[in-house]
Amino acid sequence: MENLVKMKGIILHGGHGTRLRPLTHTGPKQLLPIANKPMSQYCLETIAETGISDIAIIIGGVGADKVREYYGNGNKFGVNITYIEQDEPRGIAHAIRLCKDFINNEKFLVFLGDNIIQKSIADFVEKFNNTNSDATVLLCEVDNPSQFGIADVENGKILKITEKPKSPASNLAVTGIYFLTPVIFEIIDNLKPSWRNELEITDALDNLLKKNDNVSYEKITDYWKDTGTPDDILHANGEIISKHPAFQHRHLPKNLSESISITGNVIIGENCVIEENVTIHGPVIIGNDCKVMSNSKIGPNVSLGDNSIISVSLIENSIIMQNCKIHSLTQIKNSIIANNSEITDDHEDEKIFLLGEGSKISL
Ligand code: TTP
Repeated sequence: MENLVKMKGIILHGGHGTRLRPLTHTGPKQLLPIANKPMSQYCLETIAETGISDIAIIIGGVGADKVREYYGNGNKFGVNITYIEQDEPRGIAHAIRLCKDFINNEKFLVFLGDNIIQKSIADFVEKFNNTNSDATVLLCEVDNPSQFGIADVENGKILKITEKPKSPASNLAVTGIYFLTPVIFEIIDNLKPSWRNELEITDALDNLLKKNDNVSYEKITDYWKDTGTPDDILHANGEIISKHPAFQHRHLPKNLSESISITGNVIIGENCVIEENVTIHGPVIIGNDCKVMSNSKIGPNVSLGDNSIISVSLIENSIIMQNCKIHSLTQIKNSIIANNSEITDDHEDEKIFLLGEGSKISL
């Protein structure tokens, strides 16, 4: 029976991550935290929740070992993980082609590891299991269609996909979540690399359309973000803390002093010290073992990783990762600060910097 087909999942965890340098000099962008959790974990959990349990993770480049270390064999997440190495980021379609043996003639779901959504896709999985479409893509309305791959649609079918069109046929962007059948493999085998020398998924889908005219779509009517840039990550961070089902509970330490002001959705981990006169304006998530010293102001849209210390600072719309120390009167806004960083302004007239390659500072 068709609806018993067991689908497999693929998460793309390779790529260059150039737009997120220097954060991606030490690890893949998909492990960067959103609300204190690696962004690809949201993908994995979304796939696992549909009942798909065999998942391949495509790894390559900087920090591929960190991915293996974090996800292991998948046991902790209730899935079986197979790692497939991509020697160079030769394109999304190239990464998918590497999975042919793993897929073994079944239908499958591909999730780009830097795409964030909030709602379940279990219904889409079920529907795809029962259709005869060669592929189903998930579309989402966007305000700036000329920045995306845009689908021209009619009567539930896709007519054409155009990458970054000058005169967009719709405002429906093709997201990084694709339901595919093994038909795609022979299409990819006949694909030519693009101007940027990659095998493009847009070209593969477009060729599939030309061949069989059998690509359907579904719409994401809720949140979707392709987190390619720092601004995208900060946006997703605020959105996830305030709306993701996993963060819909306020969690505060017991016996907080009355001088502390907490408003909005605020989640504070275990073993944290929040001192007098601190203001926390949600959405804010604070990890375990953090210290927020007197008079600091945090939020909205801030996540603070485990073991970090904030002192006399104002932090807004920012991600501060683990083991950071911020002792500063300077306002920190729209910033992403990686693990083990330190910011101090003890020195009145001088600024001292120790910055890695590709750092960005705005004073
Ligand atoms: P992109 O965001 O298009 O590319 P990138 O990750 O190389 O980043 P940048 O443009 O900033 O240099 O990639 C989309 C997703 O697909 C992302 O999760 C990385 C993944 N990917 C691979 O796994 N292998 C690849 O060959 C490519 C190009 C991307």
